[in-house]
Amino acid sequence: MPPLGPILPFDIKGAHLLHELVPYIVATPANLAMLNRSPFGLPTPVAHIINPLRLESEIFLDLLHKLDGLTFGPEGMPMPKWVFYDCSELPGAIYGLARPAATVWPKVAELFAIPSDYTGLVPVSMYVAIPMPQPGVWFGHNLSSLAPVFRHLDLLPDLDLAGLGSLTKGLALKCFGVKQFWGATQWQSKALYIHAKFGPLALQTAYTPAHSEHETLTYGFACTDQSLRASMGDPTITLPRPEVDEWIDGRDVARLQSLQRQIEMGEEFCIPCPPRPLSPGSDGGMAVPIARTTAAST
Ligand SMILES: CC(C)(COP(=O)(O)OP(=O)(O)OC[C@H]1O[C@@H](n2cnc3c(N)ncnc32)[C@H](O)[C@@H]1OP(=O)(O)O)[C@@H](O)C(=O)NCCC(=O)NCCS
Repeated sequence: MPPLGPILPFDIKGAHLLHELVPYIVATPANLAMLNRSPFGLPTPVAHIINPLRLESEIFLDLLHKLDGLTFGPEGMPMPKWVFYDCSELPGAIYGLARPAATVWPKVAELFAIPSDYTGLVPVSMYVAIPMPQPGVWFGHNLSSLAPVFRHLDLLPDLDLAGLGSLTKGLALKCFGVKQFWGATQWQSKALYIHAKFGPLALQTAYTPAHSEHETLTYGFACTDQSLRASMGDPTITLPRPEVDEWIDGRDVARLQSLQRQIEMGEEFCIPCPPRPLSPGSDGGMAVPIARTTAAST
């Protein structure tokens, strides 16, 4: 069989995934009207649009909740179902990639405990965001990819899911029409490798007692087609990035607190590029780059 051609109009890291998986959107009809159902020309079939206000959506939404538990459970932050409804499905939108139950891999069907008569979609990734009051400004609430679970359990050794998380977030932000993005993540989260692909991340907080995890950073970036394509691995895009001034050990709470005080004094910083492991080959802590973008006026 000849190789399958690209589905998006530009090259991406996880191009093959779009031959294995199909897109879906969860949104109320009112919110759906504001979304782009064909981000970068990739259409979302009507049958893959899930209305959280309808009984028929129950099993798919339960599977999504399981996906959240499988991915965020080990991070200690699984979402209660009511938070999923109140803070995701109703006010915001969810975009992700899935596999029809009829062709889902048996090991994944087992992992999700899919009812034998279910014929809908089985989600393998999701991105959730919530609109903020200013037009085009969104807050990223949740990114989940089953890729690490597949790897950890050695579920499908022949299927390379590398790039699934980045692809999902990039397509989702295009679907939602995001112009300015805000997010919050932990200094030790591997997701920082993904977030930094969108360009330099402007730091709003470095130490965040308002969050249940104080070692959380709040970050933002302007969302353009260039930044989205870069996030998905389009090799033709190079985003401008400031020089690194300092590498911070994400576990160094005293440094995070002093950085927070500097931000509150008016100094401005960004995370200019992706982190790196603290020691070569380690799967432990991460060193996170910091660049000063302007000095506080005295
Ligand atoms: C974070 C998460 C979404 C990543 O999903 P994924 O499908 O593996 O993501 P991708 O393959 O697109 O990208 C992962 C990037 O991290 C890099 N990375 C480096 N070290 C890593 C590690 N120890 N573990 C995972 N990724 C690592 C990968 O190399 C890759 O970058 P690259 O494309 O430049 O090579 C997934 O692990 C997840 O769902 N985690 C639990 C929930 C969570 O923490 N969500 C984020 C909240 S802000």
